[in-house]
Amino acid sequence: MRVLVTGAAGFIGSNLVDRLLAAGHVVVGVDDLSRGRLENLAVARSANERRPGAFSFSQFDVTDPLFPELVSRAAPEVVCHLAAQIDVRVSVADPLLDARLNVLGTINVLEACRQGGVRKLVFTSSGGSIYGEPEQLPVAEDVPLDPHSPYAAAKAAGELYLGAYRAMYGLAYTSLALGNVYGPRQDPHGEAGVVAIFSTALLQGRATKIFGDGTATRDYVYVGDVVEAFVRATGQVGDGRRYNIGTGLQTSVTDLHGLVATAVGVTAEPTYADPRVGELQAIALDCAAAGRDLGWTPATDMPAGIAGTVDWIRGHVAG
Ligand SMILES: NC(=O)c1ccc[n+]([C@@H]2O[C@H](COP(=O)([O-])OP(=O)(O)OC[C@H]3O[C@@H](n4cnc5c(N)ncnc54)[C@H](O)[C@@H]3O)[C@@H](O)[C@H]2O)c1
Repeated sequence: MRVLVTGAAGFIGSNLVDRLLAAGHVVVGVDDLSRGRLENLAVARSANERRPGAFSFSQFDVTDPLFPELVSRAAPEVVCHLAAQIDVRVSVADPLLDARLNVLGTINVLEACRQGGVRKLVFTSSGGSIYGEPEQLPVAEDVPLDPHSPYAAAKAAGELYLGAYRAMYGLAYTSLALGNVYGPRQDPHGEAGVVAIFSTALLQGRATKIFGDGTATRDYVYVGDVVEAFVRATGQVGDGRRYNIGTGLQTSVTDLHGLVATAVGVTAEPTYADPRVGELQAIALDCAAAGRDLGWTPATDMPAGIAGTVDWIRGHVAG
């Protein structure tokens, strides 16, 4: 199958590209390299040596009016849309910027899919933010959306547009509402990605800071498991559906800090600072529907996933 991946040079996108190539698909990667890195695509580029034409890459902005032409030329059967502004705090500080990338960008991708005759769009939503503070955890997909930040609102808006394009043009879609994803290639220099941030700081012997009192919980899911869900969603299953992709488990920031410190092999106490606007107190995702329809379950527990992440950061970032 020909699959076009937006955000291909990013953390999750590049892991997805590698997984799709390993499964024998032909992959077209698109990224404007605003945050993504070409180094993340080194494995993908080497796939061309074994299978000429298996992977190609375009540095391109998904909000560009010419993006539909690029998609029509590439003629993918499926588009996996991961390109986005990913930071909740950036969305709070500059909601227009967030909407330009995450709402208008998604509409442009939908237009490109329509014009390019794409069969299916797999969308990247945010299970960690679109449900707000649900009364019951883990939260299932049928709970009404309750965005508490522009980032969450933009992801919810993207899902509404997916529904509209399905109704108008029969464009199939599956939305994957991800928990807090961690693993190799996550950028440790941004404000998002707390596993990468803690790992890098502790490996470098620097102090770590927790915003809030450390009791806030998240559903942490390993990137290798997340990209497996994407590969399954590119098939015929799950049209018109959102699936939560997490573990169902809550881990507090303080406990996460302890897990990372153990994997690094240090004992270190974090400092605490004021909580940040737009952040939730607790979330965990009920992923039974993904198990039932996609045959997907998370395979990596946190100690193993964090150990793999710390090893990667030791070799690539903090070494
Ligand atoms: N990391 C998480 O925990 C998490 C959780 C839920 C949802 N998501 C979603 O997953 C997707 C991927 O996130 P990630 O963590 O890999 O972040 P990332 O920043 O590593 O990847 C995003 C990629 O998109 C690219 N990009 C940004 N704007 C673009 C544009 N206008 N045109 C083309 N490319 C552009 C960036 O250069 C980057 O490579 C995003 O949609 C994000 O909202 C991530």
